[in-house]
Amino acid sequence: MAEKMEKEVFWDDSALSWNGAMLVYNAALKEMGTKIDILNDEFRHVHQYNPIEYVKERIKSPESIVKKLKRYGYEDTIQNMVEYCNDIAGVRIVCSFTSDIYRLADMIGRQSDITVISVKDYIKHPKASGYKSYHMIVSIPIFLSDRKVDTKVEIQIRTIAMDFWASLEHKIYYKFEGNAPEYISHDLQECAKIVSMLDEKMLSLNEAILKAKEEQNQ
Ligand code: GTP
Ligand code: MG
Repeated sequence: MAEKMEKEVFWDDSALSWNGAMLVYNAALKEMGTKIDILNDEFRHVHQYNPIEYVKERIKSPESIVKKLKRYGYEDTIQNMVEYCNDIAGVRIVCSFTSDIYRLADMIGRQSDITVISVKDYIKHPKASGYKSYHMIVSIPIFLSDRKVDTKVEIQIRTIAMDFWASLEHKIYYKFEGNAPEYISHDLQECAKIVSMLDEKMLSLNEAILKAKEEQNQ
């Protein structure tokens, strides 16, 4: 029988070319995409409902990678990119309800080939801007022809309402290049509060509907 691939193989010289690295990050996005699809299908099978509204995937642009490394004070080498840029492969999962976020995060974190490197819970601790979302940096193994490469993926999980706010806030801030007038930042924070209220209302409405249905079936 053929010898099994060595367990501990990292980014070696051939993966460390730009194209080699991008191939691996693209593979990581595909792997994560499939994992999320399977979780969603299983969830629908068991609970007759879809926790995920939609999933967006993206690879960070070379310009953004260079900009980020500069901001961190690192030279723009591929080695530094692999080591310090955690969001080259990014997956955004947009859920129906806040409760789905934690359920999904837990299901992802418990998979045996996924290592959770870090978690930032901006739902329990929103950013000063009003931003809410659940962030995970995970590592998943990518199997190439002769080696295994552990690859980082940033996962952002949020509700549709949080996604709506974040998209518009990003657009508005982009226009001001981060220097928005005080009243705009203030109004955006107010909008974030309304969005949170909406999420809470929708969640309790959903729970009430589920309960009413259960009682009907008894
Ligand atoms: P980045 O260097 O921006 O990646 O930040 P970070 O490495 O400190 O990580 P963090 O978890 O704070 O943010 C990562 C990502 O979350 C960002 O790239 C955005 O996609 C999103 N994000 C964080 N804060 C905000 C915010 O205030 N508004 C919006 N619209 N998005 C945000
Ligand atoms: Mg980022």
